[in-house]
Amino acid sequence: MPKNSHKSKFFASVFIVLVISIITAIITMVIFYQIQTSTMNPTPRPTFPPSTTVPPLATRLPRSIIPERYQVSLKTYFYNQIMEPENVTASNQTMFFTGNSTVYFECVQATSTVHLHIRELTVWGAVVKNINTKETIECSTSYDEELSEFLEIQLSEELKVGENYSLSLKFEGVMSPYLEGFYLSMYNHGGAAHHRDSNTERFIAATQMEPTFARHVFPCLDEPDLKAVFEVTIIHRKDTMALGNNRMKTDFIDEEWKYTIFETTPRMSTYLFAFVVSDFTATESSHDSVTIRTFARPEATAAGHTHYAANITGKILSFYEEYFEIGYSLPKLDQVALPDLDPAGMENWGLVTYQEGEVLYEEGVSSLLLKENIADIIAHELAHQWFGNLVTMKWWNELWLKEGFSTYISNLAVDHVEPSFRAIEMNLIHDFEAAFMADALASSRPLVPPQDQVQTADEIQQMFDVITYKKGALVLRMLSNIVGEIDFKKGVNMYLKDFKYKSADQNDLWRTIQQVLPKNTDIDVAMVMDSWTKQSGFPVITIDTTTGEFYQKRFLYNDSSQSNVWWSVPITSMSNSSVFRPFLLETSAKVREEEFISKNGEWILANINCTGFYRVNYNLENWDFLLTQLETEPQRIPLMNRWQLVDDAFNLARAKLVNVTLALNSTRFLRNETSLLPWKTAMSNLDYFVHMFDRSEVYGPMQAYLRQQVKGLYNFFRNYTDHSRVPEDHSLQHLQMLAVKVACSNGLPECVTMATKMFAEWMNNNTNNIHTNLRSEIYCHAVAAGGKAEWEFAWQRFESSEDTSEKEQLRQALSCTKKIWLLNRYLEYTLNPDKIRLMDVDTTIFLVSRNVVGQALAWNFIRANWEYVSMGNPALLVVGVASRFSTQFELEELQRFASDYELMSATRAAEQSIEQTQVNIQWVNDNKDIVHQWFDREIASRS
Ligand SMILES: *[C@@H]1O[C@H](CO)[C@@H](O)[C@H](O)[C@H]1NC(C)=O
Ligand SMILES: *[C@@H]1O[C@H](CO)[C@@H](O)[C@H](O)[C@H]1NC(C)=O
Ligand SMILES: *[C@@H]1O[C@H](CO)[C@@H](O)[C@H](O)[C@H]1NC(C)=O
Ligand SMILES: *[C@@H]1O[C@H](CO)[C@@H](O)[C@H](O)[C@H]1NC(C)=O
Ligand SMILES: *[C@@H]1O[C@H](CO)[C@@H](O)[C@H](O)[C@H]1NC(C)=O
Ligand SMILES: [Zn+2]
Repeated sequence: MPKNSHKSKFFASVFIVLVISIITAIITMVIFYQIQTSTMNPTPRPTFPPSTTVPPLATRLPRSIIPERYQVSLKTYFYNQIMEPENVTASNQTMFFTGNSTVYFECVQATSTVHLHIRELTVWGAVVKNINTKETIECSTSYDEELSEFLEIQLSEELKVGENYSLSLKFEGVMSPYLEGFYLSMYNHGGAAHHRDSNTERFIAATQMEPTFARHVFPCLDEPDLKAVFEVTIIHRKDTMALGNNRMKTDFIDEEWKYTIFETTPRMSTYLFAFVVSDFTATESSHDSVTIRTFARPEATAAGHTHYAANITGKILSFYEEYFEIGYSLPKLDQVALPDLDPAGMENWGLVTYQEGEVLYEEGVSSLLLKENIADIIAHELAHQWFGNLVTMKWWNELWLKEGFSTYISNLAVDHVEPSFRAIEMNLIHDFEAAFMADALASSRPLVPPQDQVQTADEIQQMFDVITYKKGALVLRMLSNIVGEIDFKKGVNMYLKDFKYKSADQNDLWRTIQQVLPKNTDIDVAMVMDSWTKQSGFPVITIDTTTGEFYQKRFLYNDSSQSNVWWSVPITSMSNSSVFRPFLLETSAKVREEEFISKNGEWILANINCTGFYRVNYNLENWDFLLTQLETEPQRIPLMNRWQLVDDAFNLARAKLVNVTLALNSTRFLRNETSLLPWKTAMSNLDYFVHMFDRSEVYGPMQAYLRQQVKGLYNFFRNYTDHSRVPEDHSLQHLQMLAVKVACSNGLPECVTMATKMFAEWMNNNTNNIHTNLRSEIYCHAVAAGGKAEWEFAWQRFESSEDTSEKEQLRQALSCTKKIWLLNRYLEYTLNPDKIRLMDVDTTIFLVSRNVVGQALAWNFIRANWEYVSMGNPALLVVGVASRFSTQFELEELQRFASDYELMSATRAAEQSIEQTQVNIQWVNDNKDIVHQWFDREIASRS
């Protein structure tokens, strides 16, 4: 699955990126049966409700049998189109499915009981056979709904070690109304996207099995290391088309049905099983051996919206084939842009699925940002075809192996295919900011928690977080820098070859990397990496350049503890005249290094290019030298470190390791700065100040200061912006967007006037001349500065637009209004799936909660409608609404919420938000006056 930032690019700027699970954890069975609309024989209520509310006693399958092969035949009854135009509610649409399956397995430990996973499936007709003797073995099935999701099959005799057996079952179920397992999705053919109209309504069906939803669809041994091959037949209405993991082998049609039979899949985990039944059409990509098709709604394909994705997919696949030195495993690769999917993308082997907003691109309409996003997500999912699909983690507690790796390597792939995106730098900054943030809280977790802490569906779900994706990626990048890129790649190649079609754990990876290193190396890969993967947090290295002494300590925002935990920290360093030799710091004790003593007023800088996952603090004198360098001749400091200095200064201040004025001082040079990274960092760090102070009297002087700082930058682009043009250079385009954002949100008059004027032109002339890069900011600030007319225009455009990125921008802009009654109306709309799709509910409420005017409204709304709104990503809601909490009263409200509500996968996010609120209360107490004075002084000195 993809990393979080793909949920929507605008969340990348979110300051408090707490644990945000990627997939929804929705197992609310109550609503399940109200929603299904079957007019066939109503499906019997499944006898097997989910067990996630009661933690099962034994959640793992015994290893007495090992599956080899499944035959799965599944019949889906839904119609692509409903024929009774006037009466949708009375339609004969159905969400029913039936099937049969046989699993062939080997007995490796004598047993007279066989277990399979099922959830919300009715199963019957079990037949167990000994393949060797052809005998049928008597059996009976049972299911203890209280305890687990195991279907238990009691056999009349013991299975014998080394013999092969088959188990056949018949089953039926109902497609999920949520986006999990096998589910139905709807789109509008030609018509307005949000109004239900049976003439234009089209239905398609798709699957999402990761992590534990395959058991929703057919009985299986649903654990990632129990790999098997799959022989699949899908029976569907004859006017639809079915896609599976592998190529279609053959198909035939009778009066009503089409039988699509697929070629056998490679050996793979159940969570990668997928099929899609739709009327979608495809765009082909070129590749020398693999047939690559990108499917989308017929109109999107016809309009060319899949061109960009199709264009880069072949190149990315070739990049990986070369990098991994292993060809892609299947003859075909299909990608499908789905109207509904949660997560943003899913790497099903041979059948990658995406939210269509993540991959469709309309030349001249979609924003530049989106192209970067498309490249990122495709590169991420394709990396999984090796890391994850070919070699799979043994259990979900090591999820980071595939997610961290794909996140890391996808940057290299994007950089190869689209060098102008500068993906490595840009994504590194996002990854660092998010990972550092989450991991600096005491409630963080190790990258690899013990297996017994990752057992239930909710616990597995919560593994899909910032730590897994971003810290995972950064820790692998660090290893690559410690052992060298060439050996890292060699080790990875060997690991993939040794474990292909199997499962592995991180020790296997460390062992193969160790094997390619010179025999006399003093690097113990497993020991170095265990310090990063098995304990939570990361260190701050403190260097005193007057004595040359330095030491490491865990970096925490509210640290009161004395501890002697340590990491194997790769220390790279330089002064303004030389680069020092790198070494590993492997102690919590204070150490002395002659080179770290500053000579002749030279600065010392550690963690060159930020290859290590740690922060650095210095004595004040060295800080002064470094900040002076930044103001006089910044290029002497490597780009990534210019980012690091600002980011470290702010975060050290939050942790009370330096004064907040040092952090604020590090923004002074921005006044004359016209490069992206320092601005970006400063702004995302100041975002915390905004959230802490935008309801207080500090906000006025702060905005005045920022107007002063950004004026030069805004004017730098004015010739472009005022004429709705953008510069050639890619990072300048980003900087231009940032200039508009900072200027408009701090009320720089020329910016607000520009936004209002451009939006008014669109409203009046009905032609939109605003450059796609600038739309997002201009829409938002025009809606913020406007009233009912602007908001309703944006709403009407949102409803009628067929372009997904335009829709996203408008959905965001609608949350920008300063009018309480409009925000209330918008929140009410989220309860109506015809207005705001279920998959957009969480992010829409999140956006409202990020608006200073909407935050309190959103908080009340979430609590009043928790059952419905928490069906999406409840963690996001909690994080969004709590991001301003900084009073005792708010803390108590949050604590009451956490104890009174069913939090499901938001549990960890709530814990983290409570901790963060405590930090905020203290921080505001300590800093409010100092910050207020600092801004007052800065405005006074410049005006
Ligand atoms: C619905 O049911 C009617 C009769 O029961 C049938 O003729 C029709 O083809 C079915 N399908 C659709 C898509 O309306
Ligand atoms: C639609 O069908 C339902 C159920 O059969 C019926 O009660 C209702 O009156 C119908 N509505 C229209 C507009 O025909
Ligand atoms: C189940 O198995 C039989 C063959 O034994 C097959 O004809 C049928 O189509 C299968 N599929 C379903 C969905 O019933
Ligand atoms: C596809 O790639 C080619 C060059 O490889 C380029 O000329 C073309 O404009 C690209 N098309 C799109 C839609 O990006
Ligand atoms: C830091 O990165 C730059 C640019 O990628 C590179 O040229 C330089 O060699 C790196 N420095 C070190 C010490 O690795
Ligand atoms: Zn992924």
